Amino acid sequence: MPIMPDRSDEPAWAGDNLADPHAVADKPRRVRKMFAAIARSYDLNNRIHSLWRDQRWRRCAVALCRIKSSDVVADAACGTGDLALAFARAGAHRVIGLDFTHEMLTLAQQKARRASGLKSQGSGLLFVDADAMRLPLPDRSVDVVSIAFGIRNVADPVAAVAEFARVLRPGGRLCILEFSTPRNRLLRWMHQLYCGRIMPLTASLIARDRTGAYRYLPRSVDTFLDRDQVTAAMTGAGFQNVAMHVQTFGIAVIYLGYRAA
Ligand SMILES: C[S@@+](CC[C@H](N)C(=O)[O-])C[C@H]1O[C@@H](n2cnc3c(N)ncnc32)[C@H](O)[C@@H]1O
Repeated sequence: MPIMPDRSDEPAWAGDNLADPHAVADKPRRVRKMFAAIARSYDLNNRIHSLWRDQRWRRCAVALCRIKSSDVVADAACGTGDLALAFARAGAHRVIGLDFTHEMLTLAQQKARRASGLKSQGSGLLFVDADAMRLPLPDRSVDVVSIAFGIRNVADPVAAVAEFARVLRPGGRLCILEFSTPRNRLLRWMHQLYCGRIMPLTASLIARDRTGAYRYLPRSVDTFLDRDQVTAAMTGAGFQNVAMHVQTFGIAVIYLGYRAA
């Protein structure tokens, strides 16, 4: 059933529902409301608060996928399209960005129109309004599925990974880029101070956000599956040779696996 846009003034994330945002029954509605509200400043906040690391992590994810000129890529929860664009620039035959927040997709489409050089490379890049839990793609139809900072936001990440396996051809790659927590105790303390106290204030100011998006962000990372659980979800869905590539002291991790034949 389609999720209707929520234009009420009630914050998406506040109080009790931040204790474990993944357990909130209407998480998809709240996630969509939050991204609709912060879409315009989403890229700026990403760059500033990752200290310009986020695009490097996306490029690293693309490099790990070893894109071939015949590859069809589905970028789930594509948001404003940065990862989809990176796959197109890497020379993929076709890139389909999918997201369920209209405001994020509109920005992705505008960005793709402005991106120079893509037409001359002949890359087919399109953006589609779709739920990552039910991709509008046939079984075994794509070579790469990617999802950057999105798996944490879906209603059921384990079911989403199974859905990604469904649309991948045997041998196809699943690439998940997601936030994590540094293992080193001092770095973890500094990271928690930054993400828990500083970033929610500065990011909310930049976005003029009243939805609680930047209070949800650290809580949703802290309460999400840990690295071993993400790897187990991939293995459980039939992915092989699953590997973790830790980025920038463990702030982010790229998971890469290959769909079994
Ligand atoms: C943190 S943003 C990441 C955007 C982009 N992948 C990037 O690298 O910046 C998360 C995105 O996931 C989308 N999203 C969350 N749950 C989704 C779902 N079930 N189906 C489709 N998109 C979803 C949101 O609309 C939002 O655009």
